[in-house]
Amino acid sequence: MNGDKLVIAIDGPAGAGKSTIAKEIAKILNLEYVDTGAMYRALTLKVINSGIAIDDIENIIKLANSTSIKFQNNKIYLDGTAVDEDIRKNIVNNNVSNIAKIKEIREIMVDMQQKMAMDSNIIMDGRDIGTVVLPNANYKFFLIASVEERARRRYLEIMEKKQEDISYEKVLEDIKKRDTIDSTRDIAPLKKAPEAHIIDSTDKSIEETVREIINIIEGR
Ligand code: DC
Repeated sequence: MNGDKLVIAIDGPAGAGKSTIAKEIAKILNLEYVDTGAMYRALTLKVINSGIAIDDIENIIKLANSTSIKFQNNKIYLDGTAVDEDIRKNIVNNNVSNIAKIKEIREIMVDMQQKMAMDSNIIMDGRDIGTVVLPNANYKFFLIASVEERARRRYLEIMEKKQEDISYEKVLEDIKKRDTIDSTRDIAPLKKAPEAHIIDSTDKSIEETVREIINIIEGR
């Protein structure tokens, strides 16, 4: 299927813990890790910084075609500059779904992601990894958690980073909005691949969730 390579896909809604879990698994199994949400975020940041309107699809596509997005040492580089902090800002949170629903943008991103997965043992997380980007992945997981728990995690993360002043209720409302856009868009909506294992992290620690996934991969 993937030769000797190990390819793992993790999909799920915002705040389910995909990145944290995927990073841990990458460490344990010595895999490359690609956070595809960070790629859509990086492009969104560039759109915002360029002053292009979020509904100016033509210019957003032009911009995407002249954009370089790379991962190195677990950092994401947008046109050569590390943007790990900036892509987590609320202004990016609130606009990224509208960029990610553009068909041509998804084609550009999927192409980049498939190239990244070509020569390495890899774990990739996102919304359409098991369904569109890596349909032949050796293992597929669909990570879920209740919307309240996901909002709680995002809220704590924002508070920890002291990034901005926002209430839990607003974070919850924003996550619900994003869930709706991500799962109802026409192109590659958030959807579980039929063969994906559902992992519910609502009442589990990071370690417990990682263990559950590793056990499946190791066939225990
Ligand atoms: O996982 P995240 O919250 O960082 O993702 C940011 C946004 O990007 C999210 O609103 C959905 C979108 N996304 C997507 O459409 N497809 C992916 N493979 C990854 C993310």
